[in-house]
Amino acid sequence: MTWTRRIFLKESLAGWIALVIGPTAYGLIRRVLPPESGSVGRTSIIGKVDEFQVKTSKVVYFGREKVIIGRSRNGSFHAVSAVCTHLGCFVKFEEENDQDAFVCNCHNSKFDLEGVNLSGPAVAPLRQYKIEVVEAGVELSAISEPEAF
Ligand code: FES
Repeated sequence: MTWTRRIFLKESLAGWIALVIGPTAYGLIRRVLPPESGSVGRTSIIGKVDEFQVKTSKVVYFGREKVIIGRSRNGSFHAVSAVCTHLGCFVKFEEENDQDAFVCNCHNSKFDLEGVNLSGPAVAPLRQYKIEVVEAGVELSAISEPEAF
């Protein structure tokens, strides 16, 4: 095959379409279809109870989602999305003025142990997860679908 200007332009256009349209279509499909993991009803054992120290936290993956597990001073477990609803920074578990809370590292949004936003620029709550101690260990489950931003 001899490369003519017409063939070159046609091949270039096909390559451009593959490079631009392909990822865009993939992104749209990923946004429309429900997440394959972390969906409602899914559960996962994330560790033994003694792996979670009181007044500390641990970040675990639940499917593709990062979830922060906080264990408050009374030993109860709390699980919320580790991704702040303001601009997507990670939150940490903090003990402040005798109150446990999740606080964002970037702009200091503060959330209660159920993920409800208390102060700061975040106007939406963190996604909450169900967490309970079962015979096999600490079990994490999704109780709602993630919010679309
Ligand atoms: S990203 Fe969390 S407060 Fe801004």
